[in-house]
This record gives sequence, C-alpha cells and structure tokens, in this order.
Amino acid sequence: MNYLSLTKEELTNYLAQERRNYDAIVAESNKVDIARGKPCNEQLDIAMPMLDMAEQLKAMPKSYRNYGMLEGIPEMRGLFAEILGVKPDNVIVGGSSSLNLMYDTIQRNLQFGVCGGKPWNSSPIKFICPVPGYDRHFGILQHFGIEMISVNMTEQGPNMDLVEKLVESDESIKGIWCVPKYSNPTGITYSDEVVTRLANMKTKASDFRIFWDNAYCVHELTDTPDVLKNIMQACIEAGNEDRVYEFTSTSKITFAGAGVACIAASANNVKDILSHLTYQTISYNKVSQYMHYLYLKSVDNIAEIMKKQMQVIKPKFDTVIGALEENFGADNGVCTWTNPKGGYFITLDTYPGCASRVGELCKKAGLTITPAGAPFPYGVDDDDKTLRIAPTFTSDSDLAVAVKILVCCIKVAVLEKLLEL
Ligand SMILES: Cc1ncc(COP(=O)(O)O)c(C=O)c1O
Repeated sequence: MNYLSLTKEELTNYLAQERRNYDAIVAESNKVDIARGKPCNEQLDIAMPMLDMAEQLKAMPKSYRNYGMLEGIPEMRGLFAEILGVKPDNVIVGGSSSLNLMYDTIQRNLQFGVCGGKPWNSSPIKFICPVPGYDRHFGILQHFGIEMISVNMTEQGPNMDLVEKLVESDESIKGIWCVPKYSNPTGITYSDEVVTRLANMKTKASDFRIFWDNAYCVHELTDTPDVLKNIMQACIEAGNEDRVYEFTSTSKITFAGAGVACIAASANNVKDILSHLTYQTISYNKVSQYMHYLYLKSVDNIAEIMKKQMQVIKPKFDTVIGALEENFGADNGVCTWTNPKGGYFITLDTYPGCASRVGELCKKAGLTITPAGAPFPYGVDDDDKTLRIAPTFTSDSDLAVAVKILVCCIKVAVLEKLLEL
C-alpha cells in the first residue's frame, strides 16, 4: 500500500484503527530494548572456550607477565596486521577498547600535534562527519568542542565531491570519521573509488587524518562478504602514507568491553603515538592479548567464529526486515530500510518529521530505541526521519514484540503526519 495515494478519509480510518492497536499494545506493559549494538548472550557464549585455556596461557612467554612491550605482543600485532592488510610493525595493540584509542588519539593531537606539528588546539578545528554515523564518534568531538561538519552518506560511502571540496579549502579541517565496512548505522561498505579518493584528495591541512574505524571488518551476515579496498595501501600509493589511523577490536568477536583493540598506522605515526603513549602507560594487558591470540589463532579461525555468530544474529535481522516488508512493502511511499550484509544495524528512514514522534510513541509503549537524531552531530537530524535499529542484543521473543511495537508506532506517526495532526 502506498500511503501517499490514500484519501483523507482512508488515512483517518486507518489512523483510528492503528491507534486502537497502539492502545492495546500499551496495555500489555511491555519492556523491550533495541537501542544499542550489543552482542547477545548466545554470541558471547561462543567465546567462552577462551576461558578454558588456562593451561596453555600458563605456558605464555615469561615476559608477557611483566611490564613492557608497549606496542603489544608480536602474536596479536601479527594477527591484527593480517586482518587489516598491514605490516605487524604498523600495529599497536592496545587495551580492551578501540573507542578509547580513538579518544586518546584525538586528545593527543589536540594537545601535542601530529608528528611534531602544531597542536590541533592552537586554533579552532573542525572534523567531517559522514551522516548518519556513529553517535559515539560525534560524542568525542562534542566533548572536546570540535566543530562537526555533516556530509551525507551515499550507497558508496561519504559524498566525496563535498568531502574533497571541504578539505581542499579549509585548513582547520583536521579529520574525518569513517566506518568503512558495514558502516554504523547504514551498513554500507565504501566503494574502491571512495577509498581511492580519500587516499588521494588534496587537503589544505598537512596534518589532516582519516579516522578509519574498521569496527566491523569481519562481521558478516552473508556468505558473500563485501571486500573493502585497503586504505593503508591506497595512501602509500597516493604518497600520503601518514594520512590514516585505522582502528579495530575484538569487542564483537570475543567479549564486548573485554576484548583487545588496536590502532594501525604508518611508521611515522606509530613512532609519534608511542612517543606519547610511553607517558600514559607502561604497557597494556599482554595476558589478555595472549589469551586472545590462543583463542583466535588465525584469520581463517576468526572467520569460523564469525560464522557461528552470524547463525545467531542473522535470524534477528531477518525478523526485523521481514516484519517491515510484510507491513509496509517496497512501494509504501513513507519509509525505507537497509538490509545490511554485515555489522550490527539497520537504518530505517521514516517519512520526514516522524522519527522523534516514533521514538516518543515507542517509549510510551515500553520499547527503547536509539534516540532519533543520535546518528547525527549534536543529536540533530534536520529531516527528523532516520532511526537506527539494533536487533542483536534482544532475545528472539522480545525482538518479535519490539518489532510489533515499532511497526505500529511508525504507522501512527506517519498517519498523523500525513493528516497534519
Ligand atoms: C563503529 C564502532 N566503533 C567502535 C565501537 C566500539 O568499539 P570498542 O568496543 O572497541 O571500543 C562500536 C561499538 O558499537 C562501533 O559501532
């Protein structure tokens, strides 16, 4: 059914029916949550054998029990290097959070500059934020008072015509956030052309950096993974070797918040980072790094682990997408959604002006969703239409309830809007 072709009378009748449906749902006193991209218990269970490796762990090199090796243990440097397609020397293995490494990198650059350059905070700076994007990236910038410039995402990645124009002319633009594979929240993977253009573009700021958050590098939802062009290699070929910091972690491979994270960068950048990091910590947790190495073993083994995770979470994505298809169909005129091949999110675009109302209705009906506006800088979606759905954490039965509520709330909000109520 195309909502836009309904008469006023049809819309009014339909709204009355959906409001009755909504009141019945509210009376059920549900309490469900699809707000954050967290793994569910069944996914975390998959990593539990890692905790049975005590005997093997005891045989770790003696030096791993002690301070030292700021850059991380060679085994994990090697494994991350293989995952990201870089050399082990380009990898620093950190603590349990890649977001922490991103935060530290921005703070370090603000205070000390990049590779001996002027501190970023010696004058006001800006960052490019592809939208919709990851709310915590934007939160870091807001926390430091860094101005955010929104650039729209396309099916191929950020709108590169606009990105190139901005960075070429404005020296105060020091960076861009990118979630290049199975992007949070749109699920798209950057095309080769976008990666090449990011590596080659002229930047007015010589200390411009790409923050390449490859959080979902192995997080497949199909047997035919997207292939992301290697940004480090592209930067080397473009003569801009120092342009990129790449991040990833095992948060959604092993345990969220208790995994191992890394930053990968050129030799100059690695040297620069370590020269500051040495004041920050003596070394990260090498026992955890080794335990992860024992469990993860190899890129092929990680792919096997991620297949098991896919079996757990793919049906959850199917539940949400199936319900949207069933209730709205392709040619509904008022909402569209993504069907990602990997990652953790579905992006649902409602009719303009409806997203906050959907959130409000969901809240009253006992469903917590990511606040409307969250995937945008300063929490403001000018069109008030984009919602981020995170289906992984909730149990299958709760997810069915969540989707029933969500569908009803979208219908009520859209019908109200079309009737200008
Ligand atoms: C794009 C992106 N980057 C980073 C993170 C957090 O990663 P970590 O647990 O390594 O800090 C998330 C978590 O949802 C994410 O979606």
